[in-house]
Amino acid sequence: MSKYEYDIVKVLYRSETAVSGQKLAEQLNISRTAVWKAIDALKEKGYHINSVSNKGYTLIQFPKRWDAHLINLILEDSQLFQKGFIYESLTSTQDEAEKLALNESIPFIVLSEVQTDGRGRFRRNWSSLPDTGLWMSVVLKPDIALHKLTTFNLFIALALAETMHHYYEDVNIKWPNDIFINDKKLSGFLTEIKGSQDQINQIICGIGINLNTEVNQFPEALQQTATSLSVETGQYIDRYQFFKLLICNIEKYYNKFMHSEFKDVKSDYERYALMFDRTLKYTEGNNIVYGKATSMNEDGTLNVTGEDGKTYRFISADIEL
Ligand code: BTN
Repeated sequence: MSKYEYDIVKVLYRSETAVSGQKLAEQLNISRTAVWKAIDALKEKGYHINSVSNKGYTLIQFPKRWDAHLINLILEDSQLFQKGFIYESLTSTQDEAEKLALNESIPFIVLSEVQTDGRGRFRRNWSSLPDTGLWMSVVLKPDIALHKLTTFNLFIALALAETMHHYYEDVNIKWPNDIFINDKKLSGFLTEIKGSQDQINQIICGIGINLNTEVNQFPEALQQTATSLSVETGQYIDRYQFFKLLICNIEKYYNKFMHSEFKDVKSDYERYALMFDRTLKYTEGNNIVYGKATSMNEDGTLNVTGEDGKTYRFISADIEL
């Protein structure tokens, strides 16, 4: 993207109303023809720019591919994340985030169009095709006691659920780390930490969200159990708009995580939770329990009544529907 093109995108992105060609030319100190040419070039690159005579230009939609300039433009509004590192292809954004974190002392994000070795929890593979989703690691640098970390995932799940709720009414959290719609998985995340024995000073949270994935793009074994936001809503998801809202919600819930306790958001979490009143399979280590979740505790652990009549308290588990 040329400098003019980027400057035009920046003005249009920041403006709530249409901006005339004349105003753009004056603001950027270039000719009307140069504005016109740059707008044309941007349209070629996949920007949807509306032009209305006597009013001017409005930026309707960003292009499909991730662009470092645009991501960093969006991050200018973030109080939390100062920088975005954007790649065409990585093995995993988690690996790159870990390397970059050695030289960064403030929070940042890593985003990749493709991951060739994306990973999920329990060493599962995470399918990460181009154009379809959001494969991102967020690196946070808190200074917290280890015991506080136990609720981190619960707050992040809320940030994800709230973002998706903007697009679809009935979003669910499958405790602790998955987001579901209509009993199909849409998103998951994993959290990797660094610190000393009882103090944490780095969290790398890897988030995968299927946005515009079509059913036949999922690995065959997942086609019955995975979904994307576009499949569920029937509409194309502008990944930049989604990203912007997600960053805002991560910031909101990260602040809550740092400054309040899980009990303050427990009822919000329970409203999204899909585990209650249905028999599910809970696996924690070698322990397998079929049972119904009955309640959550203030520390975020889950109470499950097993089919054997016993009560189990799970700190974390893999839950199968
Ligand atoms: C899960 O549901 O098991 C967690 C999936 C996490 C996938 C994301 S995609 C971005 C980041 N990089 C990875 O390799 N994994 C996470």
